[in-house]
Amino acid sequence: MKSDNWFSLKYSDGEVVFLDQTKLPAVEDYVHTQSYLRIAEAIKRLEIRGAPLIGIAAAYALALSVKQGYSQQLFNDSYLTLASTRPTAVNLFNCLNRMRDFCENLPENKRNFENLILEAIAIHKEDEQGCEAIAENGKKIFNSKSRVLTHCNTGKLATGGIGTAFGVILRGFEAGLVEMVFADETRPLFQGLRLTSYELSKSNIPFKVIPDSAAGVLIRDGKVDLVITGADRIASNGDSANKLGTFSLSVLCKTSGIPFYIAAPSSTIDFKAGGFEDIPIEERSSDELIQYLDPDLGFKNIDSFNPSFDVTPAENISGIITEKGFYTYPYNFS
Ligand code: MRU
Repeated sequence: MKSDNWFSLKYSDGEVVFLDQTKLPAVEDYVHTQSYLRIAEAIKRLEIRGAPLIGIAAAYALALSVKQGYSQQLFNDSYLTLASTRPTAVNLFNCLNRMRDFCENLPENKRNFENLILEAIAIHKEDEQGCEAIAENGKKIFNSKSRVLTHCNTGKLATGGIGTAFGVILRGFEAGLVEMVFADETRPLFQGLRLTSYELSKSNIPFKVIPDSAAGVLIRDGKVDLVITGADRIASNGDSANKLGTFSLSVLCKTSGIPFYIAAPSSTIDFKAGGFEDIPIEERSSDELIQYLDPDLGFKNIDSFNPSFDVTPAENISGIITEKGFYTYPYNFS
């Protein structure tokens, strides 16, 4: 697993090709599709996941939905189907709205697949470039060779480029500023254990995967210099939704006096959300809590509380890094 010559999602020759992330790391299964419904299903099932990549995939899907011919009704229906896939990552809605606005600004006889796909490609390219700018803006979080802890997955599998938090770590490592990475396993779907470890291996970055609950002792014992994660939606006051467990990490950092950073493209900022109370949190099925356990254990019909995300209050965040700059508390992104 030592090659970086791989991709999570691309558009080529009239189709979208994506790596089914539910099968990683065991199987690298690339799915080819021209169907917007297949892409909507992939987003729902987390075959395609990570806030920026969800937005990019949805933009391609909206374009593909009118490949056989444009009609306003068809476009609206596909928009609504894609918008209903996942509620928290605002990149999904920002990308869909950008595609809708682009389409509405075209003369009626130009509203077609050929023009819409160009806008989706532009969205993808901008995210790729944005990742590099985030990594550049994030370099200053490393004082010397740092031991970094991260949560969930924020690299190539989650974005259109090198990643958000992962991109900062990657470029930092290449510059000799990162010693090693602790990757939270990220229960219940193991995005850290399955996906971040996959990306870290591919990039030859030394790492250890840890149970989420090990972060406390590592931080207390001075084995972590900083924590950096991504985000799925950032309110205008800086409150940041990210994978469940991020909030607890921020509290650990605060009580132990180590910095906690968020890295995300500016398309993750929701200017309509004033604070945490305006961020919808996705709840997922209890099946996902037990899906990696041996079926012979006999779990059935257990009640669960399984939110996919939590919100870290702005005051717990030492810095928010976007492609536009490095922001500190109190946050003002305008
Ligand atoms: O449920 P997921 O796997 O889509 O959750 C993803 C995360 O929480 C990531 O940390 C976030 O999207 C940042 S992606 C660069």
